[in-house]
Amino acid sequence: MTSPAMRRYRTTTSAEDSLIGAAGDDRLDLTALFGRSAPRRLEIGCGHGEFVSQMAQAHPGHDFVGLEIDRLRVNKCAHKCLKLGAANVRLYAGEADEFVRLRLPDAAFERIYILFPDPWPKAAHRRRRLVNRGFLLELARVAAPGCTFVFASDTHNYAMQVLSNVSTIPGLWRSLHPTGYKVDVPVRFETVFERHKRAEGCTIVNLRFERTAEPVPTLVR
Ligand SMILES: C[S@@+](CC[C@H](N)C(=O)[O-])C[C@H]1O[C@@H](n2cnc3c(N)ncnc32)[C@H](O)[C@@H]1O
Repeated sequence: MTSPAMRRYRTTTSAEDSLIGAAGDDRLDLTALFGRSAPRRLEIGCGHGEFVSQMAQAHPGHDFVGLEIDRLRVNKCAHKCLKLGAANVRLYAGEADEFVRLRLPDAAFERIYILFPDPWPKAAHRRRRLVNRGFLLELARVAAPGCTFVFASDTHNYAMQVLSNVSTIPGLWRSLHPTGYKVDVPVRFETVFERHKRAEGCTIVNLRFERTAEPVPTLVR
């Protein structure tokens, strides 16, 4: 159900539309899209857009792609970016697994963020979690060598599952935390979920990986 607060994002202005990419299944030409070839960052599940809008404002020399399955949140995110004067963002409404696989080019990003993905806490629902082995392989394809992949969650067994999934594709991602993870890492820009979870007293697990230069094996899905 759409909350009354979100209903205002059912319509968009032409300025907001200029930040929202068209649906499709063609591979994106990011240089043409942004009109330049700057370092690029990707946020998957950008929600209401706090993080991507503030990052884009803070880093005008970088280009940002934000992906979110909920169209109203995408509209809200565009609204926030404009409010902060961040035009170096392109937002897409779509399902992450499909979007990354079909639309993102190889070695395109120097940083990838997945912050508080849907946790699917019930054991029976864990197979619905986005960051599975196949998805990590696709992320490795779109990550440039040296790309940092940041994952954060208050659902500890999800974070441990991601660590375990990474270990099943050796050579592609190297953990930047000596113990594999860190907790309660200070961040420059909190997401909405992070703010709520910290206020509830939850411990936030942070994973940080670096993409190696190893080629991605042929994907068998
Ligand atoms: C728990 S919220 C966190 C939002 C934001 N990252 C934050 O930390 O505040 C998860 C977000 O991921 C989006 N999402 C869930 N599954 C997705 C998928 N398969 N593809 C793209 N977005 C997805 C949801 O709509 C939601 O906005």
